[in-house]
Amino acid sequence: MFNKKTAPLPPGKFRMGGTHFKNDKAFIRTAVRDVRRLVKYCDLNAESSLLDWGCGAGRLAVGVREEFGRIRDYHGVDIQPELIEWADANLAGEGFRFTCLDLSNERYNPDGSPERTLAAEPGSVDAFYAYSVFSHMNDDDTPAYLRLMGEALAPAGRALVTCFVEEDVAAWEENPQGYGPLEWKGPLHCTRFARLHFEDHVRSAGLAVDRFEYGRETDGQSLYVLRRG
Ligand SMILES: C[S@@+](CC[C@H](N)C(=O)[O-])C[C@H]1O[C@@H](n2cnc3c(N)ncnc32)[C@H](O)[C@@H]1O
Repeated sequence: MFNKKTAPLPPGKFRMGGTHFKNDKAFIRTAVRDVRRLVKYCDLNAESSLLDWGCGAGRLAVGVREEFGRIRDYHGVDIQPELIEWADANLAGEGFRFTCLDLSNERYNPDGSPERTLAAEPGSVDAFYAYSVFSHMNDDDTPAYLRLMGEALAPAGRALVTCFVEEDVAAWEENPQGYGPLEWKGPLHCTRFARLHFEDHVRSAGLAVDRFEYGRETDGQSLYVLRRG
């Protein structure tokens, strides 16, 4: 069991997803906020199997530890070995595990394999979390990973995901100029979907939208709660 007071937080250089996460209090606060939203929207509880897809160095694991101590299975998956090595050395333990996959993403692991997997058994995931992952993903990987998400979810499972979506824009665009709070630079810094296009991907993956909240997440992303359709 982790000790809330002494368990370390990832060093600043390993905190993905925005400068606000460099602040320890904000890092923990957003993690706890998201665990509470998983409880509310995805029925997360102490008996759940939770897949944290694109977990970085384990921000959500810190929130699970704060709120629950532990749950049945927290599984963090990412494609950046140095982040997973840190998480594995510092946050893994009873109920907490991490997996590094050498898969391709033009921003985070351009030389990785073009294969796609979530490292999850079909029908095994009660709560799926993907915060700021589809915000850095091309328009081929996105529908493919949504399909894998649909397969991985348990029948009553739910997914909380964030992404950039807008009405009346191109179906998919990389680093749209003048959009959002940052000047986007480099491969897949910001990937934006037309809302209908993203929701077409959702439906084609055998998923349905349970909840949509526009524009209140990191850098103006929107929040979706998805379930099996
Ligand atoms: C902006 S970070 C968000 C980190 C974390 N979800 C958070 O909110 O603190 C996006 C993460 O997604 C990971 N990622 C991108 N493509 C992935 C894939 N195909 N499988 C697993 N992780 C992926 C990246 O390596 C990166 O750590």
